[in-house]
Amino acid sequence: MDEERIISTRSLSGDSDDELSLRPKRLSEYIGQTKVKENMKVYIDAALSRNESLDHVLLYGPPGLGKTTLAGIIANEMGSNLRITSGPSIERAGDLAAILTSLSHGDILFIDEIHRLSRSVEEILYPAMEDFSLDIILGKGPGAHSVRLDLPRFTLIGATTRTGLLTAPLRDRFGVISRLELYSPSELDEIIRRSANILNTKIDAFGSMEIASRSRGTPRIANRLLRRVRDFAQVKGSGEITKEIADLALSTMEVDKVGLDMIDRKMMMFIIENFGGGPVGLETLAASIGEDANTIEDVYEPYLLQLGFLNRTPRGRMATSKAYEHFGINKPTQMSLDE
Ligand code: ADE
Repeated sequence: MDEERIISTRSLSGDSDDELSLRPKRLSEYIGQTKVKENMKVYIDAALSRNESLDHVLLYGPPGLGKTTLAGIIANEMGSNLRITSGPSIERAGDLAAILTSLSHGDILFIDEIHRLSRSVEEILYPAMEDFSLDIILGKGPGAHSVRLDLPRFTLIGATTRTGLLTAPLRDRFGVISRLELYSPSELDEIIRRSANILNTKIDAFGSMEIASRSRGTPRIANRLLRRVRDFAQVKGSGEITKEIADLALSTMEVDKVGLDMIDRKMMMFIIENFGGGPVGLETLAASIGEDANTIEDVYEPYLLQLGFLNRTPRGRMATSKAYEHFGINKPTQMSLDE
């Protein structure tokens, strides 16, 4: 068990050293999400001045917006240890019990994709969150009895893409519920310039803005594109990232002018070409483009909605006039109700 395992279950999975070093460590370095930041600062300062652990925090929003980063920052600001795991990796109630009993006072436990905990695991979490206690059933059959163990006061930080995916009893046990929003191009611009600086790469104002406006409102994508553009700048240019190099790299990667990738385009073109602009039901859309319906809702739709390319209606998804314009397609005249 289980330090090794808790850490290795997710261990900032997929992160290169680069990516780890790009993550801000303090709240003051964290760009954007102003409301969440301001509120968290109050809760952290209050908990610190009372010498208490922080209340449980639920962070929700599309992937790549910095939920794990924020958990790391909260732990740093609180001066606490951070333990990272994820819903799918906690298979049995005993796995969670092992994690909980290995925590120390004030530790922060981060559970990513917390909506994917099984019901039996989730039930262990209720008394743990509420009373800092763990009910263990000993024995089987008529002789079975339960014992209650005290747990250290810890803070649970849960992350999910939508609060609607959580059961009400779990959601109700979080004292702080914060929604992360897609970032504006100017916030992404700031993040890209900060990252370029850490990566020792020269970038001009037009270069960073070009990457920012093609990053789907998402820092993880902005940092990924920055690294690829840096490769192009090194091999095909002078090493400095300019608008021209950024445009060359992003076009080669098939990221269009507003940041749409192949799947976004496939989805919009399907609605436009096969359904005359919609409405199309989510499941039909998912089956036709070969993507999972949840992935469409969590990953693709938020940005298409923000761009104003897509409308969600009770009858299904519809392409807007703006989407037709972007793809250079004439909107059929008999279709009037798109907005
Ligand atoms: N890297 C990823 N997300 C960030 C953010 N919100 N602020 C600064 N750097 C980041």
